[in-house]
Amino acid sequence: MAKKEFSIVIAGGGSTFTPGIVMMLLENQDRFPIRKLKLYDNDAERQGVLGEALTILLKEQAPTLEFSYTTDPKEAFTDVDFVFAHIRVGKYAMREADEKIPLKYGVIGQETCGPGGIAYGMRSIKDMLELVDYMEEYSPAAWMLNYSNPAAIVAEATRVLRPDSRILNICDMPVGTLRRMSQIVGTTPEQLEVRYFGLNHFGWWTSVKDKETGHEYLDEIKAYVAKHGYLTQVEVDTQHMDESWQETHKKAKDLLAIEPRFLPNTYLKYYFYPQDEVAHANPEYTRANEVMDGREKEVFSAAQEIIDQGTAKSNAFNIDSHASFIVDLARAIAFNTGKRMLLIVENNGAIANFDDDAMVEVPCIIGSDGPEPLTQGKIPSFERALMLQQVTVEKMVVEAYIEKSYQKMWQALSLSKIVPNARVAKELLDDLIEANKDFWPELK
Ligand code: NAD
Ligand code: G6P
Ligand code: MN
Repeated sequence: MAKKEFSIVIAGGGSTFTPGIVMMLLENQDRFPIRKLKLYDNDAERQGVLGEALTILLKEQAPTLEFSYTTDPKEAFTDVDFVFAHIRVGKYAMREADEKIPLKYGVIGQETCGPGGIAYGMRSIKDMLELVDYMEEYSPAAWMLNYSNPAAIVAEATRVLRPDSRILNICDMPVGTLRRMSQIVGTTPEQLEVRYFGLNHFGWWTSVKDKETGHEYLDEIKAYVAKHGYLTQVEVDTQHMDESWQETHKKAKDLLAIEPRFLPNTYLKYYFYPQDEVAHANPEYTRANEVMDGREKEVFSAAQEIIDQGTAKSNAFNIDSHASFIVDLARAIAFNTGKRMLLIVENNGAIANFDDDAMVEVPCIIGSDGPEPLTQGKIPSFERALMLQQVTVEKMVVEAYIEKSYQKMWQALSLSKIVPNARVAKELLDDLIEANKDFWPELK
């Protein structure tokens, strides 16, 4: 039998994460061989810089790999086995608006949580559906592995509007945090097996075990987190390392204090301690500004250097847990590996006392037919109530998109745990509508 070789398109080719994923694919050629790699973006200029640099790099490091980049959907989506999606609708300019507008009202401004995440969700739905449709038209047997945020709202929108599509929505935060846990107990992330329940950016670990011996590390990790949060001594990643991320890892200590039974996802800080976050925020300079001045500059200037020098011999792009996760997932589908990974899937009983039609984040076994979610049993009423509130916000945003309903968006914002009241929700909504007029459907 001929050796299996795969064809991949990266949608959002101009993403700061594209070079890392390409490097990861190169490093995994023996485990996950690829014959063709394409980039697709709707911003030719942005993608062109990475495309040109990667052309030079790949010629040197993988001369037989067929590589191209395009803004033409037909060219991009024809003859592919996997679509790796990481688009940012509205780019960093709109992330900046999502973060800064809520702060005017003393409310957290965040990429995926609260009003910022709701605004971003409303922007992402249309373009994500478009990507799914391109895939179904040009490569109907392909799988889309999607990082594009807000993953929770994208997952709900595709569940409702493209129920048969082969899209799997994923998040790198639990993977990044698992790396930290493995450091805390002195092992490797590969050696650990977890139980976890929640929504995207809203969940808890209930078990972290050694895969072979079955030794339960939960108490040991909790004892560490109670003192230091997930802050570890050695650099565990190239991602989630900036000063503001260090604060986030540290804050897990306060998240464990309110729920000492489980290990928290760091994103819960926006829901449990929103005022602390607002107090530390600089309304003139938010995470979007840090990323534009940091990761975006680094990645694009490294690419420009490769172009200027005509060689990538003296340059390297970082590979982080983000890249390793998506490649592992593709490999699990391609080779039916049965690897256990956290994915965002329709609940259908995985969390026994939670709605069947909620998109939840739980461990799954991944094979060539996709994910088989593992049952996590019943969850306590505290978490269940918090999750129900949050998942209802996510569902209402999708309903508001479908019905073009101003009223539903107002209700969704009012329901968000971090928006103080309906008056603020309405003022925020009116501001967000104005800022998003090029992206949102017109609400009635
Ligand atoms: P980025 O702005 O650098 O890259 C996004 C790219 O998408 C841009 O080049 C943009 O032109 C392109 N794009 C926008 N709309 C498009 C469309 N309709 N079709 C094709 N291309 C389009 O952003 P980034 O910081 O690198 O992040 C990329 C995405 O990945 C974001 O959505 C981010 O939130 C997400 N992300 C998710 C996770 C996760 O855990 N799920 C982790 C990291 C990043
Ligand atoms: C984590 C989350 C992603 C989010 C990213 C933001 O990785 O899982 O969903 O997009 O953080 O990171 P940034 O460095 O862009 O602020
Ligand atoms: Mn995420």
